[in-house]
Amino acid sequence: MSTRTARFTLDPAFTIGEVNPRLFGSFVEHLGRCVYTGIFEPDHPTADEQGLRQDVLDLVRELGVTAIRYPGGNFVSGYRWEDSVGPAGDRPRRLDLAWRSTETNRFGLSEYIAFLKKIGPQAEPMMAINLGTRGVAEALQLQEYANHPAGTALSEQRVAHGDKEPFGIKVWCLGNEMDGPWQTGHKTAEEYGRIAAETARAMRQIDADVELVACGSSSQAMPTFAAWEATVLQETYDLVDYISLHAYYQPLDGDLDSFIASAVDMESFIENVVATADHVGARLKSKKKINLSFDEWNVWYTADWEEHTKNADPADWPEAPRLLEDNYSVMDAVVFGSLLIALLRHADRVTVACLAQLVNVIAPIMTEPGGPAWRQTTFFPFAQASKYGRGQVLDVRVDSPTHETKQYGEAELLHATAVRGEDGSVTVFAVNRSRTESLPLQVGLNGLDLTSVVEHSALADADPDARNTLADPERVTPHQVQGTALQDGTLTAVLEPLSWNVIRLA
Ligand code: AHR
Repeated sequence: MSTRTARFTLDPAFTIGEVNPRLFGSFVEHLGRCVYTGIFEPDHPTADEQGLRQDVLDLVRELGVTAIRYPGGNFVSGYRWEDSVGPAGDRPRRLDLAWRSTETNRFGLSEYIAFLKKIGPQAEPMMAINLGTRGVAEALQLQEYANHPAGTALSEQRVAHGDKEPFGIKVWCLGNEMDGPWQTGHKTAEEYGRIAAETARAMRQIDADVELVACGSSSQAMPTFAAWEATVLQETYDLVDYISLHAYYQPLDGDLDSFIASAVDMESFIENVVATADHVGARLKSKKKINLSFDEWNVWYTADWEEHTKNADPADWPEAPRLLEDNYSVMDAVVFGSLLIALLRHADRVTVACLAQLVNVIAPIMTEPGGPAWRQTTFFPFAQASKYGRGQVLDVRVDSPTHETKQYGEAELLHATAVRGEDGSVTVFAVNRSRTESLPLQVGLNGLDLTSVVEHSALADADPDARNTLADPERVTPHQVQGTALQDGTLTAVLEPLSWNVIRLA
């Protein structure tokens, strides 16, 4: 056991901000089997009359997701919204350039809204529009079709298609990863800033209250990072509400300690985008603050995808192929939990975040066609954070032992946050980044009326490579930790090596 104890103090007088429920958003893209045989499989034994898998819906509810971004991702840059509405049998089959697949359009806009309704009132649409191969006119058509009550050609078309009630889509993403050379219709910051501003201005003519997300960088490592945000926001500052961030993490060159400390990058990314947005605001002498939509984040082993594209048969455009079906380990889930902690620690400015993605594609939920659905290791930190991470984030400044990492230098072994619910209860979320040592933890509780430990749940395993699979879907689940105590205003616990911990105090 490590000799040094990690410590921090909680005090309700020192808060970061209120958690926006949209921090627990997710993402459904027309990619691989996320939609087809993921959420939608009309022939599945559990499918309802709309072809939605009930077993998947149950898990989506248990996961606790809120806003669900749709329909992409890279897919949106070739998306023709009108292909995805009307009688399903009449919809065209199209080439999907982003994922070298054939899109049948069997599942479309109306089915997406039906899916959200089936999840429950916590689910909210977050629609991306195509600014890759399309522009202002198509964005306006889609907005009118989706949101205008009735009495115009496009709104009446929706009614004729069976959706009398408008969809009420509030949050719209103005394109996807337009800074990336891989994006169909990739643009320079100046070109994108201009089309984003024009689109935003026009969309606000239909509805001044829409919430708009401008594309930020596809990662902090992009060569245009920060300059991109500054240019785009200079053009769009008064017209948009959010700037987006995307980040995926994986071990590079077998460097596990840096991988485990990935949240160091995520936190610096967030802080650098806040600084850039506020700098533009200051230059424009604006009182408005731009918030952050971290609308794609996860662990993703991209090497598997790169290998797949190298070997792709140029004549092959499969329907719903198995793509990006990462199978997550305990270590991946601990890193994933740490990314959640990073988001919560910045809840004052990150007010939307989407776990990419929801089912089968780098996802917490896996399915087999005609077969079962099960939880990946990453399912558990997300479900626990969504359930217990609601309320005020308390300011957590840790005094922790550190270790050396190749990418980030000295990294604290403890990564933590705490959220105080409306009823005064507090949940501590903590990760021990050490692969070999337990970490003793002491938390001072100032001015908080807390008397008992409700539970200490941990995700950790003697085998950090353990995973849930079709054959063994419950190999990894969180377990209860004994010995965690609250006495005389101090919480004491021991965090197992490489562990995600949820400590609930009442
Ligand atoms: O989530 C997978 C892909 O990652 C998305 O389509 C794209 O936006 C990002 O590069």
